[in-house]
Amino acid sequence: MEDRIVTPLNIKEDTENEYSLRPKRLNEYIGQKKVKDKLKIFIEAARNRKEALDHVLLYGPPGLGKTTLANIIAMEMGGNLKITSGPAIERAGDLAAILTSLNDMDVLFIDEIHRLNRSVEEILYPAMEDYALDIVIGKGAAAKSIRLDLPKFTLIGATTRVGLLTAPLRDRFGVLCPMEFYGEDELSEIIVRSADILKVKIETDAAFEIGKRSRGTPRIANRLLKRVRDYSEVKGNGVIDIKTSQAALEMMEVDNEGFDSIDNKILKAIIDNFNGGPVGVETLAYFIGEELDTIQDVYEPYLLQKGFIIRTPRGRVASDSAYRHFNRKRSTNSKKNFNQSSLFDDKM
Ligand SMILES: Nc1ncnc2c1ncn2[C@@H]1O[C@H](COP(=O)(O)OP(=O)(O)OP(=O)(O)O)[C@@H](O)[C@H]1O
Ligand SMILES: [Mg+2]
Repeated sequence: MEDRIVTPLNIKEDTENEYSLRPKRLNEYIGQKKVKDKLKIFIEAARNRKEALDHVLLYGPPGLGKTTLANIIAMEMGGNLKITSGPAIERAGDLAAILTSLNDMDVLFIDEIHRLNRSVEEILYPAMEDYALDIVIGKGAAAKSIRLDLPKFTLIGATTRVGLLTAPLRDRFGVLCPMEFYGEDELSEIIVRSADILKVKIETDAAFEIGKRSRGTPRIANRLLKRVRDYSEVKGNGVIDIKTSQAALEMMEVDNEGFDSIDNKILKAIIDNFNGGPVGVETLAYFIGEELDTIQDVYEPYLLQKGFIIRTPRGRVASDSAYRHFNRKRSTNSKKNFNQSSLFDDKM
C-alpha cells in the first residue's frame, strides 16, 4: 500500500504543506456543492441564534476532505476543535473526560466513528440528544445514576463506512453530509490553488491533466502535483506544462483514468480469471492478495463510481468500459452472465 502513488489514504509525505494546503474557510473549500450549501445555511442559522450547530455526520471515501471540513466548521462557528477517533477512545470514562472538557460552541471531531465500542457509544446518546452525561455512582443495590449537564457542543462524526454505524447513533445526527468524488474541473481548480500556495507555475491544461488522473480525490491531486513539480524542477524548467505532467505521470505509472497497477489488477482479474464476473468481493480480495476492507473502502468506490465495475447481488461484474480499457472483447458466456447480473443490479 505504502508505495501506491494514487492511494487516497494519508501517507507520510502528504503532511508536508498539509496545513497550508487545507482551505480554512467554507468559501475557499472547492466542490462538494450540496454539502457546502447545506452547511452554509445551518451554520448561519445556528450563529444567528447563538446556538451550537446540530451534530454533523460526514461520510464517504478517504481523502475527500472530511477532516478539512471539520476544521472549517469549527472555525466558522468560532469554537475550538477537539480531534479524536473511534479506536482512540477505549473506555466510557475516556469519552466522559473529553466531553466535560469542552466549552459551549466547541466542536468535537470523532474520526472513524464506526469504530467506537458499544459502551462508549452509549455515553454519546444522551450527550448528543440532551447535552447530558449520565454517570453511575456506587455499586449493586446502592448504585445510583446522576446526570451532569454538558456544554452545548457540536459533534462531527466522520466515517468511510456509514453502513457500519448503528441506527441509534446515525439517527442522532441532524446534518447528514454524503461526500462525493470531485469532478475533473474541481480537481484542476484545487491543483491551481495548491500550486499557487506552493509557489509553482502550472499551465491550465497541465492542471487539468493531473486532475483527471487524481481518482476524484483532492488528497491524490495534491500528492501528484508535488511529484510532478519535483519532476519538472529536475527534468524541465520548473514550469509545469502538459508535456512534463504526462511524462511524470507516466513515470509514476498512473494511467489515463488515474488507475494504478492494483486497480488494473482488480479489473484484469475479473475479466481474465472470472470471465467478467460476477465474482464475490471476498473471492476477489483473496485472489489478488489484498485485504477485503481495503478493496471495499479504498479501491472499489472509485471503480464503481466510474462505472468500471458493477455491483450485483451475485458479485462484482466488469462493465463494458473495463473491457474497453484493456481493448478486450467479452466472451459469449460472459455476455450472458453480464445481462443476467445487470437485471438484478442493486445499490448494496
Ligand atoms: N474541497 C477542497 N478544496 C481544496 N482542498 C481540499 C478539499 N478537500 C480536501 N482538500 C485537500 O485534500 C487533503 C485531504 O483532505 P482531508 O484530510 O480533509 O480528507 P479526509 O476526507 O479527512 O480523509 P480521511 O478519510 O483519510 O480522513 C487536505 O489536506 C486538503 O489539502
Ligand atoms: Mg480525515
